[in-house]
Amino acid sequence: MTGSSTVHIVLVGLMGSGKSSVGRRVADHLQRPFVDTDAHIERRAGRTIREIFATDGEGAFRDLETAVLTEVLCASEATVIATGGGIVTREINRDLLTRDRTDESSAPPRVVWLRASVDTLTSRLRSGAARRPLLDGDVRGRLLELDEERRDLYRAVASEIVDVDDRSLDEVVDEVLTVTEIR
Ligand code: S3P
Repeated sequence: MTGSSTVHIVLVGLMGSGKSSVGRRVADHLQRPFVDTDAHIERRAGRTIREIFATDGEGAFRDLETAVLTEVLCASEATVIATGGGIVTREINRDLLTRDRTDESSAPPRVVWLRASVDTLTSRLRSGAARRPLLDGDVRGRLLELDEERRDLYRAVASEIVDVDDRSLDEVVDEVLTVTEIR
């Protein structure tokens, strides 16, 4: 079986759950490369996510997201990957995240769901930033809908769940390192 030090760590969860900040810290700690799929898409497209949504539509953004996810999961160097909150909405992405989990000869990623309550997310996300067109308008209402739509999808892909409510960044980073057993 492949050693855990060669396995990618992927963070999933709703917008505002802390995937990027936690992921960057985990990567620093493990001295691994860090990839934020949203930032990668924006660099590659030369446009913000809001612009991509406005010009080409959400479907085009999701295509770019799948392309980037496929690419980073193929990297030979173990990487920490922060995904966009909607990565789980496409079946192909869920397959990529869970593939071969039963095949001991391969190294499926460790997928950590940063689980947060809508109250926590709402207080963190007071306004829809450039990367979050899906939160335009009633932020709390949108988060409630997305939580309802996606909760089971996050659960389905997660190999680990870390609750983030009432926890500091350090505490969450520490738990991610503990549950992935990579220190
Ligand atoms: C999205 C989440 C965003 C970004 C895009 C769509 C979503 O990423 O990918 O706005 O569908 O939940 P973050 O979760 O990093 O904010």
